[in-house]
Amino acid sequence: MCADATPLGPAGIAEVLLTADQIGERVRELAAAIERDVSPDRDVHLVGILTGAFVFMADLVRAMTARVTLDFMAVSSYGTGVLTSGEVRVLKDLDIGLAGRHVVIVEDIVDTGTTLAYLQEILRARGPRSLRTATLLSKPSRRRVPVTVEYVGFEIDDRFVVGYGLDQAHRFRNLPYVGIAREPSDLPGQ
Ligand code: IMP
Ligand code: MG
Repeated sequence: MCADATPLGPAGIAEVLLTADQIGERVRELAAAIERDVSPDRDVHLVGILTGAFVFMADLVRAMTARVTLDFMAVSSYGTGVLTSGEVRVLKDLDIGLAGRHVVIVEDIVDTGTTLAYLQEILRARGPRSLRTATLLSKPSRRRVPVTVEYVGFEIDDRFVVGYGLDQAHRFRNLPYVGIAREPSDLPGQ
């Protein structure tokens, strides 16, 4: 395939869905909403879900002025493909216990809800004082498992998106915007 023959940019992005400015403004609104819901004398403990949420998490914490602690957890539900397996595995557990904390799970995207339902169940069992969820993106039309999400950045249609932490076969996480990749591929190295 000849890249020059297509009108697509070098990053292989067909369309920009959310610009960096749109995301930045929404992230500040979400940070303010999270802070409003926790009393100022309490820490907010953010649990970022690796890898996809790392960019959102970094921007979210820097938009917050409340007392914040944070930790990361890595789960896998997708492999390198674009179809959910319905299976969730913990690849890296938390370093800090959740008992008595006001916890906010920070996700990149809620698709079928499989990953988040699992996370909420296992984290709730660790005794947090409260447990809420923030996600940058949500695809409500794809939901197979009902989940409660208190803070949603953007609801989007059923399209596979990349950028701002989200990948397609490990690529595109570095893009400062959210876009649609040229074509989804399961093939490593594509
Ligand atoms: P769920 O378990 O089906 O809700 O899937 C959640 C996970 O799938 C997310 O945390 C992402 O890692 C991945 N995912 C779902 N949709 C997309 C997408 O459009 N682009 C990139 N990753 C996605
Ligand atoms: Mg994820």
